[in-house]
Formats: sequence, C-alpha cells, structure tokens
Amino acid sequence: MTSSRIAGFHNLSREARLNALVTRGLLSAAEAAELGLEAATAGALADNLSENVISVMAVPLGVATNLTVDGVDVLVPMATEESSVIAAMSNGARACRASGGVSTEADAPCMIAQVQITGLSELTAAKAAVEAREGEIAEVCNACDPMLVKLGGGFRALEVRICGPFLVVHLIIDVRDAMGANAVNTMAEALAPKLERWSGGTVGLRILSNLADRRLVRARAVWRAEEIGAQMVQGIVSASEFAAHDPYRAATHNKGIMNGISAVALATGNDTRALEAGAHAFAATRGQGAGYGPLSRYGQTAEGDLWGEIELPMAVGIVGGATRAHPTAQKALKIMRVRSADRLARVVAAVGLIQNFSALRALAGEGIQRGHMGLHARNVAIVAGATGPEIERVAKAMIARREIREDVARAILAQGSAG
Ligand code: MEV
Repeated sequence: MTSSRIAGFHNLSREARLNALVTRGLLSAAEAAELGLEAATAGALADNLSENVISVMAVPLGVATNLTVDGVDVLVPMATEESSVIAAMSNGARACRASGGVSTEADAPCMIAQVQITGLSELTAAKAAVEAREGEIAEVCNACDPMLVKLGGGFRALEVRICGPFLVVHLIIDVRDAMGANAVNTMAEALAPKLERWSGGTVGLRILSNLADRRLVRARAVWRAEEIGAQMVQGIVSASEFAAHDPYRAATHNKGIMNGISAVALATGNDTRALEAGAHAFAATRGQGAGYGPLSRYGQTAEGDLWGEIELPMAVGIVGGATRAHPTAQKALKIMRVRSADRLARVVAAVGLIQNFSALRALAGEGIQRGHMGLHARNVAIVAGATGPEIERVAKAMIARREIREDVARAILAQGSAG
C-alpha cells in the first residue's frame, strides 16, 4: 500500500508534487505531463487559491441564452460537467419570453452569524443579559468593518435563542455585495470575549449559519399553454404536487434546481457548497407537515397557462473570495452585466426556476433519457477511446442505433478502424 504520508508535500513545486505521485506509481510520466499541461495557464492561480495543487480540473463553461430577468435580458455563464443542463436552461428561458420572462423579489443581503455559549445554568437570565447589550453589540460589529458600514451595510439585529443546553446568539448583518462569510465570522469572533462576560458562560463556536433565511429570493414565471401545450401544463402541476407530497421526489426536484444554481455559482466564483447547504436546509422546512419539501411549486393561471415560483436563500456575492481573485469569475460577471450581489441573486434564482421547469417538462413528456443520452453520447464515445472527429462519428452512430453504451461505442470504433 502507498503511504499517504508525504512529508513537505505542500512545500514542493507543482512539478515536484506530480513527480512524487509518479515515483509512487500512482501516475505514469505521461499522465503527469498531461496534468502539468492542463495547468499551464491556470496553475499559478490555482496554487494561490488552494493547497497541495498538482493541476486544475477543467469544467466546461458555457453560456445559457434567452433569459430575461425583471425585464432585462441576461446571458448566463454556467460551469457544469453535466450534459443538457445549459441546453435545457436556454430552452426553458425561451419558452417564457413571450410572457415576459422571470420576475423576482429579493430580501436585503443579511447573513446570520452564530455564537454558541456553553456552561450556563440560568439560560433565561443569560439571554436577557445579552439582549440588554444590543447597542454595544452593534458597535462592536460595525467597528469590525467600517467600510461595510460606509457602503450602507453592517449590524441590523440581535436574536438570542435557547437551543437545548446552549444560548445561541444570532447577529444579523447586512453584507451588501459580499457573500459575507468573512465579514460575519470576524464579528462573531470579536464579540466572543464580551459575550462571555455578559452571559457568564463560555463561548464555543463562532461561525455563520448557511441557513441564510434572512436573504431569500423569490422568482416567478409564466409559460403559456399555447407554447408548451395544455397537457404539459397539467403534467408539470402534477409533478409539482408529487414533490410537495414526497420528500424522496422533492430531493430530486431540488437537485434539478441546484443543477442550474450551482453551475452559475461556480462560474462566478461563488461558494457552491454554501448555496447547496442553504437550499436544502431551507427545503427541510417547506414540505407537508414542515418536513423536507420542494423549493418551487407550479399551478395553473385563470387563462390555463402554467405559473411557477421558487423561493430560497441566496448567499452570493460579487466581491471577496474567488469572485474577485478568479479571472474567469470576473469575466462571467462581466458577461452577465451584473454589478451588485442583489442582481446576481435574482438571476441565480431565475436560473433555478427555469432549470427546474425544463427538467419537469422533459420528465412530464418523453422523459429525460432521449435528450440527455443524446448529449451524453459524446462522453461515452470519449470513455470508449474516441478522439478528435471520431467522437462525433461514434456519438452519432450510437444515437442512430438508440444504443448509447460504452460497449457499443467500442464496437463502432473497432469497425471504423477496420474499415
Ligand atoms: C438530473 O440531473 C436532474 C433531474 O433528475 C431533476 C428532476 O428530476 O426534476 C432531471
């Protein structure tokens, strides 16, 4: 067995790290060279963004077309390896253009920082003691980030909760154009000694909550029955009810929403995991009997058209973190003409709704496999060993046979080289 202990790995150059993997027989020299080549342009940046870097993992970056959000057209860069996500997004957005595209509402960009206080026997008295210090708490928070205050953000509210044996202090902070994790974590840490003094307890964790439910975005669209068919309207309404009744279905319904949201988040350098955590935690309160439920729902308008709505937390930013440091993220924001976190949040919510509509449209119609597998055929051809123009030839042949499998791709490849 190869030991995972490689002393000083982090101090090596990228090339030396690759060599260390070759020496241990984990990669061939040719494979290491390929990884080195992959990182030729983005390697230095990757080194600065992460640790122990050996190369970069290229994910396709595409642009979804046809989307209108609040009356303004927007081209949406999406980074995803999943076939058919961007095509589905563009088709779903086109189908609601005649009815005005997507309209949105967004809360102020408020994040929650949590401070856990342990070791208290008189929780109610400690709660009152902390609540009485709201003015001082606001001052400490705002002093941590004068620039944020200057831009119109900063402390907004204090909430103190009793959670089991703990007192949990929530700082509600308007983070303006940032995702806000750094800003609110700094405030929570700065307050800790004072909270210990005021409460008489011991501070434990000091960190943001990813259940960013003070930062919700709502998006709504209408798809005309004449565009998608009256039967499709019924099919999507029924799919929506299925998700509302069944958490097993709701998880997949929401996964389809996040296909779009995570792809835009990745393209713009936002924290995809924070968004996923927030969305699913929020979904855990949306179902029947307040269990896990769908983030979106659909119904029929008086005219017989389909309406769809989505509501979810949206902790995205355009300053700080990889958003600023990653040149591709900067270019993605430029393509979108996004100049505020508010606009980005609205566009991302719109993408989630449209992505979901397109998945339900496929599922309520012919099923997703035909379209999906058609696009997936190229991946299968590559896995079977096709290169260059062979990829398209093998993919087309599999689609024509309606057999998109690796063994079929290999057989087509072998026939091609025999001929
Ligand atoms: C696949 O990535 C996403 C879907 O499963 C979403 C859904 O079922 O609604 C198609």
